[in-house]
Amino acid sequence: MISTGSIAEIQALISKFKSEGKKIGFVPTMGALHDGHLSLVATAKEKVDIVVCSIYVNPTQFNNQDDLKQYPRNIEADKGLLAENGCDVLFLPSDEVMYAGRNTIKFEFGDLDKVMEGKFRPGHFSGVALIVSKFFNIVLPDYGFFGQKDLQQLTIIKKLVEELFFNLEIITVPIKREPHGLAMSSRNERLSKEDREKAKIFSIALTEAKSILMEKQSSEAAKSKVESLFANHKAELEYFEIVSDKDLLTKTENYLAPDTVLCIAGFMGNVRLIDNMYLSGV
Ligand code: PAF
Repeated sequence: MISTGSIAEIQALISKFKSEGKKIGFVPTMGALHDGHLSLVATAKEKVDIVVCSIYVNPTQFNNQDDLKQYPRNIEADKGLLAENGCDVLFLPSDEVMYAGRNTIKFEFGDLDKVMEGKFRPGHFSGVALIVSKFFNIVLPDYGFFGQKDLQQLTIIKKLVEELFFNLEIITVPIKREPHGLAMSSRNERLSKEDREKAKIFSIALTEAKSILMEKQSSEAAKSKVESLFANHKAELEYFEIVSDKDLLTKTENYLAPDTVLCIAGFMGNVRLIDNMYLSGV
C-alpha cells in the first residue's frame, strides 16, 4: 500500500493508473476503522483495479467542536487494517493540504439538508459536500463507495454528483451490524460496555417499527412503539422518521414501496447514534 499526504503525489499515481487503463474506486473515511469500513473496501476491491482510501477527520463537517476533538483517531491501527484488506493507495492529507486557510464555499441542498441530521447538525452536509468534492476532484475515481448507514449523506452525495456532473458512479454498501444488531460506527468506541449493549435498542426499535408498518398499521403506531422502547431503555430519541430515500421527505402512504426507509437518531449516554432500515430488505 502506498501512503501519502500529498495531492501532487496522488494525482501522479492516478494518472499513471489511468494511462494503464485501470479503474479506480474511492473509499473516503474519517478513520477509526471497523468492519463497516472494511466492507466498503471489500466491495471496492471486487469492482475495480485500484482501491484508493482516504483518512481525514474533516473539520468543516463538525458543528460541535467537542465532537471534533473527541472523534476517535487510530491512525497506525487503521493503516495496518487497510494494508491487510487490499487498499492500494492511502491518502492521508493534513488540514493545511485540504484547506490551507480556505473555507469559504458553502453548499445548499434545498429540503435534503434541512431534515433529520440537517436539522440537528447545521452546516454538516455543506462540510461533507465540500470535502467530498475536493476528494473527487483529486482522486478522479470511476466509483465512490459509501455506506448506507449515513443514508442522508448518501442521498446528498448522489445529488452532488448529479448536479456537478462528477464523472463517477456512487455505490451503496449495506450496513454492517454487531451480532446484537447495533450498526457499526466509529462512535461506538465511545460507548461504555454497558451502553454498547443497551444501544441495540436502535436496531430493535427499527425492526419493531418495520413490522408494524408491514402489518399495515399506522405510522403513529410505529412511532409510539419506538418512543416507548427508547423510554424503557433510558435512551434519548432525537427523531424517528419514515421517509423516501429519493427526497428524504416524510412518507404518509405507500410504505411498502422500495424507497421507504426508517431513520432514527438519538443518544445512548452522551454518544449520538444514527441508524436506518429499509422497509423492504435490510
Ligand atoms: O462518512 C464519512 O466518514 C464522512 O462524512 C466522509 C464521507 C468521509 C467525508 O468526510
